[in-house]
Amino acid sequence: MKKGRGHNMLNYKLYLAEKISSVISSVDPNEIAMLMEYPPDSLIGDLSLPCFRLSKVLKKSPSEIASELKQKLTDNVIDDVVSQSGYLNIFLNKKHLVDTVTKGILTAGEQYGSQDIGQGKTVVIDYSSPNIAKPFHVAHLRSTVIGHALYQIFTFLGYNCVGINHLGDWGTQFGKLIVGYHLWGDDKNIQQNGIDELLRLYVKFHEEAEKDPALEDSARAWFVKMEQGDQEALALWKWFVEISMAEFQRIYQLLGVQFDSYTGESFYNDKMEQVIGELKEKHLLEEDEGAWLVRLDEFGMSPALMLKKDGSSLYHTRDVAAALFRKKKYDFDRAIYITDYAQNLHFQQCMKIVELMGYSWAKDIVHVAFGRVSIQGMSLSTRKGNVIKLEDLLQQAINKIRGIIEERTPNLENKEQVAQQVGVGAVIFNDLSSNRIKDIDFNWDKALNFEGETGPYVQYTYARTCTVINKAKLLSSSALHGGEMDAAQLLNTEAVRVIKELYLFTERVEQAMRKLEPSIIARYLVDLAQAFNHFYHECRVLVDDVPLREARLALVTCVQITLKNGLRLIGLQAPEQI
Ligand code: ARG
Repeated sequence: MKKGRGHNMLNYKLYLAEKISSVISSVDPNEIAMLMEYPPDSLIGDLSLPCFRLSKVLKKSPSEIASELKQKLTDNVIDDVVSQSGYLNIFLNKKHLVDTVTKGILTAGEQYGSQDIGQGKTVVIDYSSPNIAKPFHVAHLRSTVIGHALYQIFTFLGYNCVGINHLGDWGTQFGKLIVGYHLWGDDKNIQQNGIDELLRLYVKFHEEAEKDPALEDSARAWFVKMEQGDQEALALWKWFVEISMAEFQRIYQLLGVQFDSYTGESFYNDKMEQVIGELKEKHLLEEDEGAWLVRLDEFGMSPALMLKKDGSSLYHTRDVAAALFRKKKYDFDRAIYITDYAQNLHFQQCMKIVELMGYSWAKDIVHVAFGRVSIQGMSLSTRKGNVIKLEDLLQQAINKIRGIIEERTPNLENKEQVAQQVGVGAVIFNDLSSNRIKDIDFNWDKALNFEGETGPYVQYTYARTCTVINKAKLLSSSALHGGEMDAAQLLNTEAVRVIKELYLFTERVEQAMRKLEPSIIARYLVDLAQAFNHFYHECRVLVDDVPLREARLALVTCVQITLKNGLRLIGLQAPEQI
């Protein structure tokens, strides 16, 4: 029997596909498994196989195939098979299902949902990547949250992951900042107000440069100096980096996010000459009024500027250098970049350049794009001065949750910690709750609602499972200690709905990985929480009837395990009490 999973729970799709393929031996079981669907209504069946595609291969009508299979499919896993308008609808034996799922989850524990499909493969994930001396923007939050989730998901599936923060710590903007600092800067102000003050200098630079274009020239000159290793320029730059990093680290700490490497754009400073040389050698660079670029017209893209007239490098140059460096250092199977869709063209150009350089692994570069973020319907722009500081947003979320806790459970222990876990969780979950390419809005009432499709709702449901189990521990339940439980006690509709939801977890995690879409897990968690809350509402858990109580407790434990694993994968904490 094929298990095909890291934690050894029966894979029903594969199991059935193998049985079916033993009847129609000309079709590969994996192909059949891929065709299988979960009917939207369990009255139709638990799994169904559309026979239309098979119909072409087998040269029989879909309903002929379905009725033929129906005759031959019987065993203790299957209760009933119905052939209906070209579909083969399969009803699983519920006792078998309950038994398989509960045992599987209770033995796998923290590993439930994991697989080893990524074994021996390396994925490099470039995420967060804020810009030094500029505020950490909500778009960087989205990149951070999506990247962190993908990192957890890939790791859970056996991949070796490398998380890289490609800090925006190099470029002409630092020349502007140095000029601004010399003209209007004040050390004490910068020490005290950090990025806010650096941003003020940057904005002032732009205002003044409109009146006096010579400022732009001196900014460019300072950046050239930086690239040539000028000590004064580099000392200032380093200071700006330190000040900004201190603020970014506070945010990462709140979010619970880490990186394996902080090789930002400056890291490639001494690696670009070689790239430029290679591009020239491969006849990809073209001179254009003193600047150097790669033409991409035949691929329907604008040219990518690689060197400015003054010899300084650009965002493109550093990204091409970074791709080559990462391939050499990590020998990745995939390199993922997470930014908003405004950078689609940039990454298409970079990939194309790597491809034109003759590297076949260019196809392994993946740009994971996401939509814009607004807050309470208002779009944010650094230039228009519409900045909401992310740290303030997180703090405000924490404060609001603290207020709710004060009202609902004033005696809660670790109030502060829980407020932080739920407040931050609400913000993260909001970012992950719809398809990443969609533009999203952050709305306080929606994101913090304990009843909606939110982080607090899922966390609260998790805490509920903990409360029930803690109460039961006082009853010294054996189900909680790996004891046997009677699957026949969990055959009511509400329990079976939870079991079926639980079963889907492994598949959802894999889907999230394949589609690079953590929202699949976020939405799954809401579905599971809803199924569980419905069960909890209809079925008392701590009943006197011992076998019934034990079985229900086992189910609650399975939900507890799965919610916790899922929350972890999308970067949320799971407090035991709220
Ligand atoms: N710092 C860039 C920005 O804020 C994002 C960098 C993304 N990563 C990369 N390798 N280009 O837009």
